[in-house]
Amino acid sequence: MSFPIPSPYQYDDSFCVGNAEINEQHKKLFELINALDANRTCGTTLKTLLDYVVMHFKTEEDLFAKHAWSESAAHKEIHDKFVQDALGLTSVGDAEMQFIRQWLVDHIMGSDMKYKGVI
Ligand SMILES: [Fe+2]
Ligand SMILES: [Fe+2]
Repeated sequence: MSFPIPSPYQYDDSFCVGNAEINEQHKKLFELINALDANRTCGTTLKTLLDYVVMHFKTEEDLFAKHAWSESAAHKEIHDKFVQDALGLTSVGDAEMQFIRQWLVDHIMGSDMKYKGVI
């Protein structure tokens, strides 16, 4: 399912998942995706984004474990798939930017929202 991409591309309250630390990390992810857009290379900017993504996923997964969330395993699979796809990028053009922008929005709205009120 595709959710609308905000324009300008930035965090707003509709993305709130009820956890301040996670909201801050999501906000930062929007910023790092914009930084990649401004410097579309597979170098440092992409690496900075992916390092932050991996750290963010671990933060969520640690919280799932802490709260013994029943949908944790399925959610982690979605995280792992994205990291795998993103690590495979060999160029950053319009299609790749669109994929990354849409993925973050869809993941927060379609998947992360499921743990709202749980973690
Ligand atoms: Fe997230
Ligand atoms: Fe997630």
